[in-house]
Amino acid sequence: MTETLGFGILGAGLVAPFHAKSVSDAEGGRMVAFCDIDRERADKRAAEYGARAYYSLEEMLEDPEIDVVSVALPNHLHHDAVVQCARAGKHVITEKPPAMSLRETDDMIQACKEAGVKLACAVQSRLRKAVQAMKQAVGSGRFGKLLHADAFIKWFRTQEYYHSDPWRSSRRSGAGVTVQHAFHYIDLLQYLAGPASRVQARMANLAHPSVRLEDTLLAFVDFECGAQGVIEGSTALWPGTDARIELNGTDGTAIVVGERMATWQFRDETPEDEQIRTWGSAAVRATAAGGPADFSHADHQALIQDMINAVREDREVIIPVESVRPTLEIVLAMYQSAARNRPVELPVEDDDSVWEW
Ligand SMILES: NC(=O)c1ccc[n+]([C@@H]2O[C@H](COP(=O)([O-])OP(=O)(O)OC[C@H]3O[C@@H](n4cnc5c(N)ncnc54)[C@H](O)[C@@H]3O)[C@@H](O)[C@H]2O)c1
Repeated sequence: MTETLGFGILGAGLVAPFHAKSVSDAEGGRMVAFCDIDRERADKRAAEYGARAYYSLEEMLEDPEIDVVSVALPNHLHHDAVVQCARAGKHVITEKPPAMSLRETDDMIQACKEAGVKLACAVQSRLRKAVQAMKQAVGSGRFGKLLHADAFIKWFRTQEYYHSDPWRSSRRSGAGVTVQHAFHYIDLLQYLAGPASRVQARMANLAHPSVRLEDTLLAFVDFECGAQGVIEGSTALWPGTDARIELNGTDGTAIVVGERMATWQFRDETPEDEQIRTWGSAAVRATAAGGPADFSHADHQALIQDMINAVREDREVIIPVESVRPTLEIVLAMYQSAARNRPVELPVEDDDSVWEW
């Protein structure tokens, strides 16, 4: 391994620059190449970052300067690419969701284990300071008995957004709001309050009649710890407001709005609490509420820095795909519940029929 880790980004679309900026700003990483079947996109990004352009993954994987590949392809293409990268001995960061099925997710995990490479998933919102504070407070029991864990993602996407690329209107490719937008926040609830035991969901298309997918999700989740949760996810609600997650327990309440700690209140007040309440109050960064690229690369940068450090220190990454599998399971349970119009107990198995609409 060279002193700095070389990164290749597979897929030079919307999210690629978030990875590229993160690599450039991280300590110990450098951009080596972009790869896209759309040559213009690969060339453009490569020129911007002084990197090479490849037009097929096979070609990019032969580049000995690449140690890590960020898989930033449409959701349904993650699995094959991750397995191919692993077999070529490259560490991988896959964008969310890890894959579109549990079977594929397990297969990717297995392929990376066999190849001895690391596999992280970009559910980077977990790394936000305010979320980490919530996680610590849950771990140390400051909420008392956790009663509620809720997420509200009331966003807006135009009709044109859904027609900007064929996969964006394909439910099977994960273009519905549940996989494409709410996934991060469902993941946060799973991370903070999980595992989940039961899901009941309803899905609707409220404002995008030209596409056959859900632009709105309403769900109830029961968690094994006894907490219950409500999730509202939508891309129909103009102009789109910052996502909100809320934890309520017998002894405390925390509410994060966007990146801002809006409420942080515990019966056992500590000296640090006053400062925690100010977190993010100066932030004017949006969280993709009104448009797909309206967010900062800070959280992706933390994920990429962790990958660099994990390789150097030969340790597990901070967000292994194993830890995101339960989120995908909740999401798949939501589709099954909505399709059957009844609650679904976890664990679930893959059911391909849920993608029909
Ligand atoms: N973590 C986040 O906050 C976040 C934000 C946005 C998107 N995402 C995820 O990132 C992934 C990509 O989303 P996007 O919005 O950038 O999509 P996009 O459509 O803008 O970009 C995908 C790119 O992949 C290319 N591509 C398709 N098949 C290819 C192949 N076989 N080989 C090489 N290139 C190929 C396309 O030409 C396109 O340029 C999705 O999984 C999405 O869910 C995550």
